Amino acid sequence: MTAYEYRAGLEGVPATQSSISFVDGQKGILEYRGIAIEELAAKSTFLETTYLLIWGELPSREELSAFENEIQYHRRVKYRIRDMMKCFPESGHPMDALQASAAALGLFYSRRDLENPAYIRETVVRLVAKIPTMVAAFQLIRKGNDPVQPNDGLSYAENFLYMLNEKKPDPLAARILDISLTLHAEHTINASTFSAMVTASALTDPYAVVASAVGTLAGPLHGGANEEVITMLEAIGSVENVRPYLEDRLERKAKIMGFGHRVYKVKDPRAIILQDLAEQLFEKFGRDKYYDIATELERAVEEKLGNKGIYPNVDFYSGLVYRKLGIPLDLFTPVFAIARVPGWLAHWKEQLAENRIFRPTQIYTGVHDAPYIPIEERRSSMTTME
Ligand code: SDX
Repeated sequence: MTAYEYRAGLEGVPATQSSISFVDGQKGILEYRGIAIEELAAKSTFLETTYLLIWGELPSREELSAFENEIQYHRRVKYRIRDMMKCFPESGHPMDALQASAAALGLFYSRRDLENPAYIRETVVRLVAKIPTMVAAFQLIRKGNDPVQPNDGLSYAENFLYMLNEKKPDPLAARILDISLTLHAEHTINASTFSAMVTASALTDPYAVVASAVGTLAGPLHGGANEEVITMLEAIGSVENVRPYLEDRLERKAKIMGFGHRVYKVKDPRAIILQDLAEQLFEKFGRDKYYDIATELERAVEEKLGNKGIYPNVDFYSGLVYRKLGIPLDLFTPVFAIARVPGWLAHWKEQLAENRIFRPTQIYTGVHDAPYIPIEERRSSMTTME
């Protein structure tokens, strides 16, 4: 067997062959099933894009309508899931609540009929339909209120904002959320999608696959960055403080949240679109004081780190959109999770079609033939613990 070169974080190492999405990090290109993200953001909807990602083609009018109706029918979650959430501490992070709830869904539905296209479809429908309901339910429950039932007269994005705020959203706000969900739906073999694939390759149930991906997405180096960006902008506090803040972070070798990407070495095409969406919201609902800080930070980071290919990624402007939509800070990453469910499930389905369990190797750096030392002869390493 050829000894492949070890690459930290598997950088540049293909983990699969996939036809779902394509990224050109030098040119700032993102395509879902060959269609440019700019086209989908402008002309498609999140549910139509979901269908495209999962089944590989844009649906006919009848196919789309049937899919939308199925999603609408399955939006409700079992009362036991809501009762379970009532046992969660209000102070818990909504991503942990979502990971627990996604795994719990598997208790209610058949676990493994993975060869059956009908099972694949019903699983996709249930997860795409129920994840938003669970995110909104925990939000109301942790505030001491009963969650509201989904409103069947509303579209996917409208209904999420309705369940969150208990009132019908502004049409522009709902449309902008729908576009943002499309932008976040899929992104080749990112960390959470890779988690989903590894879990899927063991042929476990799809609810565990999504729970695994949610846990990975929560990390601040991945989906958790959108929440960290707003915290960072709050810490900067003013345009005048942008450069001193940046100097300090760079001196301490600390990462600037919302910047950099393993693949993009130019501004993330999704960040470009999200910046425009933020500006549309500001025009209608008033500017966000952090926007000027954000654009100044983008200029300052480009001066300092542009030569290293470090530019805004998808998480840099998304938080400003979510803030203007009235979404609480610690729900930003759960909203990213709602959007990424189609991507995770598209790779779950693709993995199953030609599965081989993931089991990489390692370069061993330990010792051999070590003696078993009786406990009375062992010196305590507590004094030298690092
Ligand atoms: C997402 O993979 C995906 O597609 C993810 C995603 C998706 O849609 O699924 O696009 C969503 O997760 C976007 C990324 C959100 N994370 C952040 O914004 C956190 C901040 N970014 C960094 O942690 C970092 O850029 C990563 C994690 C995104 C990428 O890390 P890499 O590819 O492992 O890069 P690295 O850490 O090896 O850094 C390479 C160099 C280093 O400098 P040197 O030591 O070589 O001198 O670039 C520097 C790093 O210090 N660098 C940064 C930086 N990102 C990289 N320096 C300051 N600030 C940053 N943000």
